[in-house]
Amino acid sequence: MASVVEVCRAEEAPQPGQALSVVVGDLPLAIFNIHGELYAIGDTCTHEEYPLSEGDLVDEFIVECALHGATFDVRTGDALTLPATGNAGSYRVWLEDGAVKVELPE
Ligand code: FES
Repeated sequence: MASVVEVCRAEEAPQPGQALSVVVGDLPLAIFNIHGELYAIGDTCTHEEYPLSEGDLVDEFIVECALHGATFDVRTGDALTLPATGNAGSYRVWLEDGAVKVELPE
C-alpha cells in the first residue's frame, strides 16, 4: 500500500523551471516545476548517483545531469541518454492544503 507524505509547504515549492531537492526518510527526491505542474523523480542519477536536482532543464520535460550529461524525463524518471541507463524512479506529486505531497510505494 502506498503512503502519502508532505515534503514541503506550498510556498517552498520550486518555481516554474526550477527544481527542489527533498529527502523523505532515506529517499532523495527531485521535484521539478514545469509550467506550474510538479513532477517528482528520484534525486539520484543512475550513472554515478549525482543529484539530478542540480541539473539543468534542457528541454520542456528533460533534465540533464550536471556531472556527465545523461538526460532523464522528469515525467517518468527514464534515462534517455548515456551514460545513465536506469530509471531514477518517479512519484506522484501534488499540491494539497498548502503543502506539496508525494505518494511513495511501500
Ligand atoms: S552521474 Fe549523472 S551522468 Fe554521470
